[in-house]
Amino acid sequence: MSAIIEEILKLKEQRNAIILSHNYQRDEVQDIADFIGDSLELSRTAAEIDCDVIVFCGVHFMAESASILSPDKTVLLPELGAGCPMADMIQVSSPRKVWKTFPGYETQPTFVFPHEFTLRDIKAKYPGVPVVAYVNTTAEVKAESDICCTSANVVKVIESLPDEKVICIPDRNLSMWAQKNTKKQIIAWDGFCHVHDRITKKDVLKAREEYPKAVFMAHPECRLEVLELADYVTSTSGMLRFAKSSDAGEFIVGTEIGLMHRLKKENPDKIFYPLRKDMICPNMKKTTLNSVLSALKEMRNVIKVSEDIRIPAKRALDRMLGIK
Ligand code: 13P
Ligand code: SF4
Repeated sequence: MSAIIEEILKLKEQRNAIILSHNYQRDEVQDIADFIGDSLELSRTAAEIDCDVIVFCGVHFMAESASILSPDKTVLLPELGAGCPMADMIQVSSPRKVWKTFPGYETQPTFVFPHEFTLRDIKAKYPGVPVVAYVNTTAEVKAESDICCTSANVVKVIESLPDEKVICIPDRNLSMWAQKNTKKQIIAWDGFCHVHDRITKKDVLKAREEYPKAVFMAHPECRLEVLELADYVTSTSGMLRFAKSSDAGEFIVGTEIGLMHRLKKENPDKIFYPLRKDMICPNMKKTTLNSVLSALKEMRNVIKVSEDIRIPAKRALDRMLGIK
């Protein structure tokens, strides 16, 4: 065991800390974690786990959710600069910045709401229509929403609401996927994940040609044109479960390449091909063993949400977590 890992483990014990890691983290970070998972599993774990300190190896909104759900624990985000650009694509009230769209995205559905508005604008335009916020949002946005969802439960969450019309923020691709799988009417926001949205139909056809025997799994943050070509659409941990239970021996993986580590580790007899090798989330890769060590040593980068935001944000998260 390397000296740095020994030191992390020792500090972890001294501080009664638990290390949580998202499935996209660097291999070596995943390997020292107590629990690795998708956004839904990590939220559930953060809400239930018994410890004093949570070291959250992921991006800012994930650590924020952990702090919202477990306000008595100290939540550390080893790299404060690890954000999620999609989560910043919707603001409650301040004017929004303009983001670059990747070329080739010409099929904008009519239900997507234009960029220059805020969450309060959309709520005012559709009074009484509930807001379903993807967990990839800030605490402020969650606090102004009715319920949260993740890629693993978006359709279940929408179906759990009594309303026939729902506002889904901020991922246009997740909304389009949900729209395909529900009869309810979705009013969507025009946000996107730059890692998944850059993938096109052409990439899928190329990979299919290269690996004709492989089963294609895709994350719902990909464009609809990609999802329509997939054999299975699911969250990151959904892909892990699917790959394990499937009889297939080869898989094309349509998500961030960090997931390859667990896929290979948990299925040594199966072969996994990344859909595209550049599906890398730079923010997820910011956290290193060194940053985990420094966070634990200095108890730095504490993520704390003020009570006026935390309480309504927790309501939206709890409502989601209450759905079995
Ligand atoms: P999962 O909830 O599927 O892990 O996805 C999180 C995420 O950030 C995808 O880009
Ligand atoms: Fe955000 Fe995309 Fe990175 Fe996930 S992969 S954290 S959605 S930028």
